[in-house]
Amino acid sequence: MKPIIAPSLLAADFANIQSEVNMLNASEAEWIHFDVMDGVFVPNISFGLPVLEAVRKHATKILDVHLMIQEPGRFIPQFRQAGADIITVHYEACPHLHRTVQQIKEVGAKAGVALNPHTPVQVLADIIQDLDLVLIMSVNPGFGGQQFIPQTYRKIAALKELIATASSPALIEIDGGVNQLNAAQLLATGADVLVAGNFVFSARDPLKAIAGLRSSPR
Ligand code: DX5
Ligand code: ZN
Repeated sequence: MKPIIAPSLLAADFANIQSEVNMLNASEAEWIHFDVMDGVFVPNISFGLPVLEAVRKHATKILDVHLMIQEPGRFIPQFRQAGADIITVHYEACPHLHRTVQQIKEVGAKAGVALNPHTPVQVLADIIQDLDLVLIMSVNPGFGGQQFIPQTYRKIAALKELIATASSPALIEIDGGVNQLNAAQLLATGADVLVAGNFVFSARDPLKAIAGLRSSPR
């Protein structure tokens, strides 16, 4: 199976968001990654509900919403309403993670949990069976264009084992510093979904960059 590519709109030209979305619609990417930052959980503010709603009007792809916000349980129905197909919350931002995951499922979205680089995958042992997706941060969340952390490979292998032991359907998504140099090894180690911001949007030919990532050998 070919990997799922999820270009991150964080690296798009915000003044031309409609044409950026149209470009992604015409690409081989199956998902569009949407990074929401609150300036509290992470030291940056990006965009939120009204922008998601605007993107939804044009996007023909699955909208993969990554909430880098404190206590995201406060906003689950709103993000679903605005057009999220997948809602991923951070383990580190949810004191009642089980409840938050149930909330996501109740509104009819797929449920993901993200882990910061320092958080071991084993913290998900008792919830992995309920998850559709685990997002491993391969940089510290908050900014695009950072350097990939190589410890990620070991985390993917450990997560793959956890998923198999629990017979969980969860996909493994990698977010941060993904490019043509690390894509093949990420996929060979067990990644199912690759997020890419700067690698796609800084490319001379973003369509080609997406196709290149997608056809990386596994
Ligand atoms: C970082 C975000 C990422 C970011 C990735 O906090 O979660 O999705 O957009 O950007 P690149 O691919 O440029 O590292
Ligand atoms: Zn992200």
